[in-house]
Amino acid sequence: MDGEEKTDNSLAGLLELVETSPLASIKGTVSRILSLISDPAASSSELIQLIELDPPLTAKILRVANSAYYATSKDISDIHQALIWIGLDTLKEIILTQKMSELYHGGTSVAGYSRFQLWRHSLAVAFLAKNIYRREFGEKGNNAYAAGLMHDIGIIVEDQLLHQEFMQLVQSMKDAPRSLSDGETSLFGYDHGLVGMALAESWNFPAELKEGIGFHHNPEGASKEHRLFVKTIFVADYLMFAQGYGYVAMPLPDREILEQYVRDLGLQWYALRALVELVREEMEKVEQKGYLVA
Ligand SMILES: [Fe+2]
Ligand SMILES: [Fe+2]
Repeated sequence: MDGEEKTDNSLAGLLELVETSPLASIKGTVSRILSLISDPAASSSELIQLIELDPPLTAKILRVANSAYYATSKDISDIHQALIWIGLDTLKEIILTQKMSELYHGGTSVAGYSRFQLWRHSLAVAFLAKNIYRREFGEKGNNAYAAGLMHDIGIIVEDQLLHQEFMQLVQSMKDAPRSLSDGETSLFGYDHGLVGMALAESWNFPAELKEGIGFHHNPEGASKEHRLFVKTIFVADYLMFAQGYGYVAMPLPDREILEQYVRDLGLQWYALRALVELVREEMEKVEQKGYLVA
């Protein structure tokens, strides 16, 4: 039997399942917000139109905008005010975060894994990736935030659609530690990077994000154009995992790889440590204020 062909078929089959599952409910809003995030010329009226199409989303955004987390002294009662007080870029991040959080509700907790832990991990990686771009590279980092938030989207697809097998895999990793990607590949024939990349492809995500999702465990596989971006996601993923923002019992890759990527990105360790500390404080604030909603 042709093993490769079988793998391809099952990944395609999984994607077909996605389209008829509740996961697909976020597709329209997420695809549009991602294109607004990557288009610097996109206007705020396009964003408002997008929000107004989705009343439950509007309510959630107003709740978050009024939460102590954003600590505005104003009472924000509509999206126009939210835009003025918290700004366009933050508003885009809130929309993406709220829509993505819908995928992480429910589920079961097995051997340290739960959808909640995975969501907490994703948010921490998003914060760190964005801060590396903003504070070290002097760029806005909206795409880095999006890639951090979505890099493990393939895991939530497996958890939702291949639930029993995935939970058994997580359970087995507790007694026989190995990387999640190795475990997934031997069980399913693909790992969560491939699942996420296939999803990103079929939902027309921007190329940078697609590669950030697909190659976050092996940035060398990314195109030259996006490799440094993907290495940033790798570094953020590694560091937050090591700092207690993991979601499963697994050994981290060789630290030398991390150190090489930190050099490739031109980052200094003292600066990275300060950013990790900042993200830890940010996450504590988020957890205390109830912004971590999944
Ligand atoms: Fe991952
Ligand atoms: Fe991750």
